[in-house]
Amino acid sequence: MYPYTRYHGLSIFLHWAIALGLIFMVGSGVYMVNFEMPKADQFQLFQTHKAAGVIMLWAIVLRILTRWLSKQPPMPEAFTAKEKALAKAGHIALYTALIAMPLTGWLMVSASPFGLPTFVFTDAIKWPHIPFVERNKTIESIARNMHWVIASGLVLMIIGHIGAVVMHKKKQGISLIQRMWWSKSS
Ligand code: HEM
Repeated sequence: MYPYTRYHGLSIFLHWAIALGLIFMVGSGVYMVNFEMPKADQFQLFQTHKAAGVIMLWAIVLRILTRWLSKQPPMPEAFTAKEKALAKAGHIALYTALIAMPLTGWLMVSASPFGLPTFVFTDAIKWPHIPFVERNKTIESIARNMHWVIASGLVLMIIGHIGAVVMHKKKQGISLIQRMWWSKSS
């Protein structure tokens, strides 16, 4: 029934699944690159990170499609025009960073001179390299730097995103979390 008071059920599911996935992706990424461990364990962690990253790519594409194709709850009336514009810009920035994360990871492994394949948790599912990308150390290095910079920006944006939810609750008493949770009534 319009006006909607919450997001589509699939959007809600994907929002929280991706949030959990991001904790794993950032945690595993930082750990495997910066911490000492036996080479075999590091290799295994890289493979797990890549496989989970492919799932994240699909989940993020589906999330963007659901966002685009479903009806959105309007922003709370109590928001000022500036707050509405800020929220919109923040959400666009978040989606952009979200999709750029797996794409730069994919670019990095596609350009790697090692040419290691990516399997999605089973040898039966081999994820291809990007077809038109040549194995080239410079491209790999640019993609690696982008992957790191965007991950750092994403973490900052997520802190801002959570901060905004808390701030609206404390200052205006608006509970935004209800819009992103299931309910039997709507
Ligand atoms: C939402 C998805 C993803 C997130 C949030 C993410 C996050 C990260 C982070 C935080 C790092 C550590 C960066 C550093 O400290 O230098 C990292 C490294 C890495 N990621 Fe991802 N990643 C994602 C998807 C992917 C995908 C899809 C692939 C490949 C298929 C991938 C391949 C790699 C590789 C190979 C590294 C190691 C880079 C190096 O050798 O320095 N990632 N990732």
